[in-house]
Amino acid sequence: MQSQKIDQIKAEIAAANAETPEELEAYRMRFISKKSVVGALFADMKSIPNEQKKEYGQQVNEVKQLAEEKFKQLIEEVNTSGQQRTGPGPDLSLPPTTWPVGGIHPLTATRQRIVEIFERIGFNLSEGPEIEDDWHNFTALNFPENHPAREMQDTFFIEKDPDIALRTHTSSVQVRVMENEKPPIRTLSPGRVFRNEAISARAHCIFHQVEGLYVDENVSFANLKQTLYHFAKEMFGKQTQVRFRPSFFPFTEPSAEIDISCQLCGGKGCNICKGTGWVEIGGSGMVDPNVLENCGINSEKYTGFAFGMGIERIAMLKYQINDLRLFTENDIRFLQQFRGLL
Ligand code: DAH
Repeated sequence: MQSQKIDQIKAEIAAANAETPEELEAYRMRFISKKSVVGALFADMKSIPNEQKKEYGQQVNEVKQLAEEKFKQLIEEVNTSGQQRTGPGPDLSLPPTTWPVGGIHPLTATRQRIVEIFERIGFNLSEGPEIEDDWHNFTALNFPENHPAREMQDTFFIEKDPDIALRTHTSSVQVRVMENEKPPIRTLSPGRVFRNEAISARAHCIFHQVEGLYVDENVSFANLKQTLYHFAKEMFGKQTQVRFRPSFFPFTEPSAEIDISCQLCGGKGCNICKGTGWVEIGGSGMVDPNVLENCGINSEKYTGFAFGMGIERIAMLKYQINDLRLFTENDIRFLQQFRGLL
């Protein structure tokens, strides 16, 4: 009687099928759960005569095992058939789940644009270290021994004698390039620079510059002017005016400050340009022959021009940003406004 029942349950288990989670659950209820038919077989143990208990127990355990093995197999089947299910596809008319997307930082976008403009007129890219020695940051660039930039209050020194500092400008890269390459040299060096300044809307101790250097035979001041005219018009638009103001840098002779017409008032005069109609974007000049010689370049044969511009300054003018600190504060409300760039 009992063995007949057991055989019947075994046959049922063998024939069982499940294609959906519901059918799987029905199987579980019938063969696995406490109240299942297998559970009932265990309960029947009480009424089995003692001498048959051992054999009966073995048979019931075997059924239990069969039921469990089959259950595992059915779980597998339901899982895989779930993946291949046909039926209606996803509803493409539903609005998509959106993920917050980052954007390019305005300084990165500005740097990329500057690089792009100069690459098109034959400048390559070069880099130098942010921790620089005295020679590359000052001495090779013709800075006299007692120049104020060499003072602790202007420059972050890491070591003294020999002096190692955080570079105060990207002009140090000019020296590295000229030491390692022969003219013609036409290179652009963007990078981070450091000065011991109190942080305010107009000054920061960390900012970015882009350096340009062109050394070849017969490079003239006219070439410098034309290159920067081209840059200003590409960067800020055709209507932009450029002005060169005589200035002094130890490493250029003659030297000039580069001004462009104020982007806000179009040159009429406003509080950004302090009523002058002009804003400065950088310094420039003809590479001093001493600097060429310091770097092993024959100054009788070669001449060159150089310029250095502040990337923050250019970004502020281009996007009308009035506080330098915004670039590094990581305020999402500020950064979000530049999401569409590039
Ligand atoms: N290094 C200068 C500064 O940080 C900027 C500069 C001026 C760079 C004239 C040049 C240059 O290459 O020719 O203020």
